[in-house]
Amino acid sequence: MHIVHRISDLRAALAGRGRPAFVPTMGNLHAGHLSLVQQARAAGDVTVASIFVNRLQFLPHEDFDSYPRTWEADCAQLEAAGCDVLFAPRESELYPQAQTFKVQPDPRLADILEGQFRPGFFTGVSTVVMKLFACVFAGSPGVAVFGRKDYQQLLVIRHMVQQFALPIDILAGETCRAEDGLALSSRNAYLGPAERAEAVQLVRALRALADAALQPHADLAALEEGAMRSLRARGWQPDYLTVRRRGDLLPPEGRAEPGGLVALGAARLGGARLIDNLEF
Ligand code: PAF
Repeated sequence: MHIVHRISDLRAALAGRGRPAFVPTMGNLHAGHLSLVQQARAAGDVTVASIFVNRLQFLPHEDFDSYPRTWEADCAQLEAAGCDVLFAPRESELYPQAQTFKVQPDPRLADILEGQFRPGFFTGVSTVVMKLFACVFAGSPGVAVFGRKDYQQLLVIRHMVQQFALPIDILAGETCRAEDGLALSSRNAYLGPAERAEAVQLVRALRALADAALQPHADLAALEEGAMRSLRARGWQPDYLTVRRRGDLLPPEGRAEPGGLVALGAARLGGARLIDNLEF
């Protein structure tokens, strides 16, 4: 695996190697990231991953400084997964000046759910992803893979690619789960043993919400409030548990939405804020 830290070295490493298939990450890799790398390997000519903890997508009180940085282990895992090129820019390379030009996603998609509780998050994500795309693809066609676990992020990136006519196919990677059902996430590292045992309750609450939402005459608002209440009673601090349309994350008008529904949730447990979703 070729490791590069500079944009010019990345471009040199990719020159003449065909269509890149790209997996952007913030490091602290787990099996979920590696399955995205496997998917990328099958989709392009040269597989590229990036590791960059993007300050722009963290609020001042969030965990930018303490976000787990596990460089050696990440490199070993990417190498074993068959990644060809790892781009790990320093902050001074990607943001040599303050990043004053930003990608502003549609507030109807980006200011709800995660965006409501983490204002500016999707501007930070869209801006860095646009910049990483410019570094990796330089306007040429390619493929990029994003996990379904960050469902809203996946939609925001798809809209960005469509509206800016970027020649990049966005592939969605399935959420990888631990044996008990907990979605794999870098932030699971913040859970103590008792919290780790409890953490599976988030996806269980989403499953119960999805099942209840499909019942005739379901009152979604009451079901969502009930799901949040149940988690609160177990010591969680939920931001939202909700059922939305898969295509635009607006509240459904009926249960028979042609594009399908998705139950999404975000909740704090101890020092960790976990998110998950189930499409149904
Ligand atoms: O999903 C992530 O890890 C990040 O939001 C991403 C896409 C790498 C942008 O920093």
